Amino acid sequence: MSATLFSPLQLGSLELANRIVISPMCQYSAIDGSASAWHRTHIGNLSLSGAALLLLEATAVEPEGRITPACLGLYSDDNEHALARVLDEVRQFSDMPIGMQLNHAGRKASSEPPWRGGTLIAAADGGWRTLAPSPIAQRDDEAAPAELDHVGLRRIREAFAASARRAARIGLSAIELHFAHGYLLHQFLSPLSNQRTDEYGGLLENRMRFPLEVFDAVRAAWPAGKPLGVRVSATDWVAGGWDVEETIELARRLKQLGCDWIDVSTGGLSPLQKIPLGPHYQIPFAKAVREATGMTTMGVGLVTQPADADKVIRSGEADLVALARAVLWDPRWPWHAAAELGASVTAPPQYWRSEPRGVSKVFSGASFGQR
Ligand SMILES: Cc1cc2nc3c(=O)[nH]c(=O)nc-3n(C[C@H](O)[C@H](O)[C@H](O)COP(=O)(O)O)c2cc1C
Repeated sequence: MSATLFSPLQLGSLELANRIVISPMCQYSAIDGSASAWHRTHIGNLSLSGAALLLLEATAVEPEGRITPACLGLYSDDNEHALARVLDEVRQFSDMPIGMQLNHAGRKASSEPPWRGGTLIAAADGGWRTLAPSPIAQRDDEAAPAELDHVGLRRIREAFAASARRAARIGLSAIELHFAHGYLLHQFLSPLSNQRTDEYGGLLENRMRFPLEVFDAVRAAWPAGKPLGVRVSATDWVAGGWDVEETIELARRLKQLGCDWIDVSTGGLSPLQKIPLGPHYQIPFAKAVREATGMTTMGVGLVTQPADADKVIRSGEADLVALARAVLWDPRWPWHAAAELGASVTAPPQYWRSEPRGVSKVFSGASFGQR
C-alpha cells in the first residue's frame, strides 16, 4: 500500500506518527535569545495539534547570527535553561517530538521584525555589523557586511556544534540546519552572495565547503541516530543564482554525510527574485530532489488542504509535508485533516469530548465513561 498523510515514518531513531510537520516559524519574542512566556503559549498550543513533529523557529548559534534582536538563540547557559523550562512544561501535556532549526542569519541579521518593516538596524540604533562570505549587501541601500575570515568561520562552525550539544542536553528530538532563505549558509552556496576567491568561493565544490563543514560538525556533536536534516532553497529565482541542479548535488553530498531529510523551500537570497506563488509552488522541487537522490524529502509552501497534502504523500512527491501559515490559522489542522481523511491523531484527554456530531474516533485511544 502506498504511504498516506497519516502513515508513520522513521527518521533516524525517531518514529513519526504521521507525515505532518510544523514548519519552523520565527516568533521574534525572545529576550537576549532566551525563550519567553510567549514561547510557552505558542509551543504549548502547537504541541496539542496532533502533528508528527514540531520544528522550533530559526534559532541563532551566536548573538550576531540572530535575524532580529528578539530572535531565539541557543548560544548561552541562560538560553538553554529558559528553553528547558518551557519544554519541561510543554512535555507535561504532550509527547509530540520537538525539534529545532539552527541558523546564522549572516548579512540578514540585525534586522527589525517583519511587523516593523524588517529593515536593517544600524549599530547606533541597537543593531550590529553583519557577517557574510563576501562584503555584498542584500540590498543596495544597506550597509555591506564584513567578510568572514578563517577565524570567524571556525568560530561559527563550532557555535553550530555547541548549540547542537545544548539541544541534545535539553532533549530536543531533531535538528534542522538552515541552508535556505538567504541566511549565512545559503549565502555561501549562492554565487550571487559568495564571491570569495579562497577555497570557500568560486566553483560549486568550494561554495558548498563551509555549509558541508557545518553539517559535519553538527553531525559529530549530535547523538548518532538522532535525526539531523537540512532546509534548502532549491532556487534563488534569479538568473545566474543557486539552482535545482546544484541543490541536487548538495543533497547527494549531505546524504553521504548522514543527513536524514531535505526540507525543500526556495528563495530569500535576492530582492530580484521573481516567485510564481501558488498552491504547492515548491513541491516540484521536493519531487526533483527526492527522485534524484532517494532522500527523505519534506515539501513545503502553500499546502493548505488535507486531501492535497495526502496526495503529495501518496504520489511520492515528498515523504513529509511542512505547514506554517495554515497551522497558525488553524492549530488543530491535523485533527481536522484526520477527520476528513478517516484517520486518527493523538490529543490530550481533556479535549477528547470535542468531536462534533458526525465525527468519531479521530482521537487515538479516546474512551468515555457514561455517568
Ligand atoms: C510567521 C512565520 C515565520 C517563519 N519563520 C521561519 C523560520 O524561522 N525558518 C524557516 O525556515 N522558515 C520560516 N518561515 C517560512 C515557513 O517555514 C514556510 O516555509 C513558509 O511559510 C511556506 O509554508 P506555508 O505556505 O505553509 O506557510 C516562516 C513563515 C512564517 C509565516
